[in-house]
Amino acid sequence: WSQQFLPTPLHLEDSVRAQKVEARLKELVLCGEVLRRVADVFEQEIERGLSEQPSSLQMENTYVPELPDGTEEGVFLALDLGGTNFRVLLLELSAGQLVRQQVKHYHISNALRLGTGEELFNFLADCVLDFVKQLGMEDQTFSLGFTFSFPMKQHSISSGELITWTKSFKCSGLEGVDVAALLERCLRARNLQITVRVLLNDTTGTLIAGAHMHKNVGIGVILGTGSNGCYMERASRVQHWEAAHERVQDVCVDIEWGAFGDNGCLDFIKTDFDREVDAGSLLATSFTFEKYIGGKYLGSILSCVLSALARAGLFPAEPAPDALQTAHLSLFEEENCAGEVSRTMTALREVCAGASITAEDARVAQHVAHVISNRAAQLVSVCISTLVRRMSRPHVAVAVDGSVFKHHPRIARLMRTYIALLAPHHSFSLLGAEDGSGKGSALTAAIAARLATRDS
Ligand code: GLC
Repeated sequence: WSQQFLPTPLHLEDSVRAQKVEARLKELVLCGEVLRRVADVFEQEIERGLSEQPSSLQMENTYVPELPDGTEEGVFLALDLGGTNFRVLLLELSAGQLVRQQVKHYHISNALRLGTGEELFNFLADCVLDFVKQLGMEDQTFSLGFTFSFPMKQHSISSGELITWTKSFKCSGLEGVDVAALLERCLRARNLQITVRVLLNDTTGTLIAGAHMHKNVGIGVILGTGSNGCYMERASRVQHWEAAHERVQDVCVDIEWGAFGDNGCLDFIKTDFDREVDAGSLLATSFTFEKYIGGKYLGSILSCVLSALARAGLFPAEPAPDALQTAHLSLFEEENCAGEVSRTMTALREVCAGASITAEDARVAQHVAHVISNRAAQLVSVCISTLVRRMSRPHVAVAVDGSVFKHHPRIARLMRTYIALLAPHHSFSLLGAEDGSGKGSALTAAIAARLATRDS
């Protein structure tokens, strides 16, 4: 059983070189026994997080108490901040179906990502103003769903404070600030009649959008620039519950598994390559688990490993800093699956400043990409399988979105295999859920509106 998790061995004409390469990669290869240990630690951290004991898992109460039921109605604005682009959307729902969608993408410069929080939020409000003006709707009243894909301390379905930045954002002065209130203030300053009805994470949006498509969805996962998951937990197990909210049966919990192990509980799988990637990242020593899985980092791990092989005389040259991206890892995997090397060779020549690259060198790089992808698939599968086992339902469908899930040629297949090995007595399915951040946000705003009318 344990061996079924191992990557395919490297075969080269030079078998001594193949053995030496494999020896260098050993730490990145996790067998089933180690993954079981990771799963045990994950489960303990979940319990501790839910009961507000020290844990590397935030286990945040999102206050989203129910899933779409097909009655969702209305016109909503949605904002999506967290990945590569900032998007503003106008969405119309009728009887739970999306009947109209308009989207505009805005580029967020590095200066804005690393500037002050006030500047960033004023820019977001300027984009909303531009968007509604373009539609000739600047005088209309709107409810807005704000998908803010960072860890938050939520006080309600429509308010929450940023805990810490992750991925490629590091704006000053925003930690501990209610981002929904700040956004609303910036919108009001532009005379816009827009109310932030829901503040949610992209995983929550994905869960809601997935649940809209498939009735058994209970888990939402993002496997993109960053990685995270949320799931429907029994409300009685969630300690953090602010008094103003009625206790319901189930509630969506945002795990923030990107930070899993930040307290040292997972140091037994950390490699020197991971330490190097972390040290070179924008937010060192935080969200280390995400740095094993997220698309923002897989290319950097590939680069670190190939550089180490080059220094050991096992690869012709060190790639230029930041030249290798996750798209390269996907390309190498794609060619590896097809038994080809030509595009890998061309890409390697480009990133290694024209060094001479042989077919054998390309096979080495493809193998490294395979080992790194395999570990990422294993680790995300540990998290998902632990949730599937915990939920003990007859069938759990998992809604997944994100660039790595969509574009990596074999991650979805590997995940299906590994989740089945780690949760052998449970029935599950993985569903690609497109655009949870947009559609999911509008659906959640509609759910919030439904709850508000029910309460009043
Ligand atoms: C990071 C964020 C988290 C988000 C994930 C995927 O881990 O902290 O909130 O869900 O990226 O975008």
